[in-house]
Amino acid sequence: MLMSSVAGSANPLAPAWLSVPANANELAPTVWSRNAARAESGVIEIAGLDVATLVAEYGTPVYVVDEADVRGRARDVRESFDREFARVGSSAKVYYAGKAFLTIEVARWMIAAGLNIDVCSGGELAVALAAGVDPGRLGLHGNNKSVAEIDRSVSVGIGAIVLDSAIEIERVAAAAKKHGRVQPVRLRINSGVHASTHEYLATAREDQKFGIPLADAEATVAIIRSHSELSFLGLHSHIGSQIFESDGFAEAARRLFAVHAKLLETGPVPELNLGGGFGIAYTSVDVALSLDEIARRFADIVSAAAAEFGVPVPVVSIEPGRAIIGPSTATIYEVGTVKDVLVTLPDDTTAIRKYVSIDGGMSDNIRPALYGADYTVRIASRKSDAEPVLVRIAGKHCESGDIVVHADYLPGDVRPGDLLAVPATGAYCWSLANNYNYLGRPPVVAVKDGEARLLVRRETEEDLLSRDAGLRTPSEKK
Ligand code: LLP
Repeated sequence: MLMSSVAGSANPLAPAWLSVPANANELAPTVWSRNAARAESGVIEIAGLDVATLVAEYGTPVYVVDEADVRGRARDVRESFDREFARVGSSAKVYYAGKAFLTIEVARWMIAAGLNIDVCSGGELAVALAAGVDPGRLGLHGNNKSVAEIDRSVSVGIGAIVLDSAIEIERVAAAAKKHGRVQPVRLRINSGVHASTHEYLATAREDQKFGIPLADAEATVAIIRSHSELSFLGLHSHIGSQIFESDGFAEAARRLFAVHAKLLETGPVPELNLGGGFGIAYTSVDVALSLDEIARRFADIVSAAAAEFGVPVPVVSIEPGRAIIGPSTATIYEVGTVKDVLVTLPDDTTAIRKYVSIDGGMSDNIRPALYGADYTVRIASRKSDAEPVLVRIAGKHCESGDIVVHADYLPGDVRPGDLLAVPATGAYCWSLANNYNYLGRPPVVAVKDGEARLLVRRETEEDLLSRDAGLRTPSEKK
């Protein structure tokens, strides 16, 4: 057998997209938050605070949010959409998709940046309300909103409810009647367009649970309009997530405009919602459109479709989550064990994959296990001149699929006690976090101008036991 793994050269176990970095200490600017850098000392700093200091206070694993990055992107998306939609004679509303990551503080950042917030459950609504957000700036989504969720939303005066099925029309109308309100609603359409990363699929009807078929839209809107307690805002479409191209949005917009134009013949249709889904770079080979470019393309798409169907450019709303919060956050872990695993390749040669195990895993970032998502990793607590070797960052859960980074190159001297940083973990990591194997969920810490502050504290063993009804006496319940 031949050993084909030579430190510093490409490891045959590495995926085709991954090349050996000239410098495994470098932070790819497209993947890291705007204020992340490696200090002279070799330690990674986020917004002027070195992660070793931060970890001394908050422990590991910890999600570190670069606050100025989030707030900057939120402002950028709003400003670009304002500018580009003014160029085509209209305006735009930006909703931050709270499902990506929502805390009270984050909700306040979004509002301060001039955004609205999209929630999709009573829990997310409760967070936004606890943040003091004007309910008029909230939208409610969901394919199966409970009657209680609808009631609460209507009673607080939520700005918009996105109806997902004909059944919901009566439920929302009944709640509006009960609370003496006229509830603004959108209607979610299943456009048949599904997009993910670089490709989109367009079918007559997509086999999925959200929305109503395009063919039923006119009849459904007629029912909505027949309810005096409802005011129809317009159609809604969300075609997928982590999308790098705009052609899927253009196809969905064209399909929606055909109906939008017909609806205008029978009543007002002031708005159109094109959802979220803008992709971000998780690895250095991902090329994401800038927020400016997305806004420019959206304005062009919408104005072209409006011209094609001979209708005015409507107010357009969008619902990005990942593009605002995703790049802002890095998760910091501590290395516990390292082992070299000899792997036999199909041609009978062998190569070494270095398994580096950390103190978190699929409970704080389930995306690699759930979607095969790729992430990258750097040693955060020091720089090293050791030759880069292929690593796989594994979690501590009792499951072989518990991988946080499938493949990246790290300095070959990576060892127990090192802090590792995995960037671009702001979206759908904390919000999908779980307690598998009774691990407590990590804290979320915001850093700005060298100062850290806790957004959400670490979950303790006490928290984990607190809901277990098996504890018998009040004192045992402590
Ligand atoms: N609007 C609607 C109706 C949505 O369903 C979503 C995401 C968004 C907006 C925001 O999409 P974004 O801009 O964040 O891509 N857990 C998956 C993503 C699920 C997306 C769910 N809906 C992941 O981690 O990739």
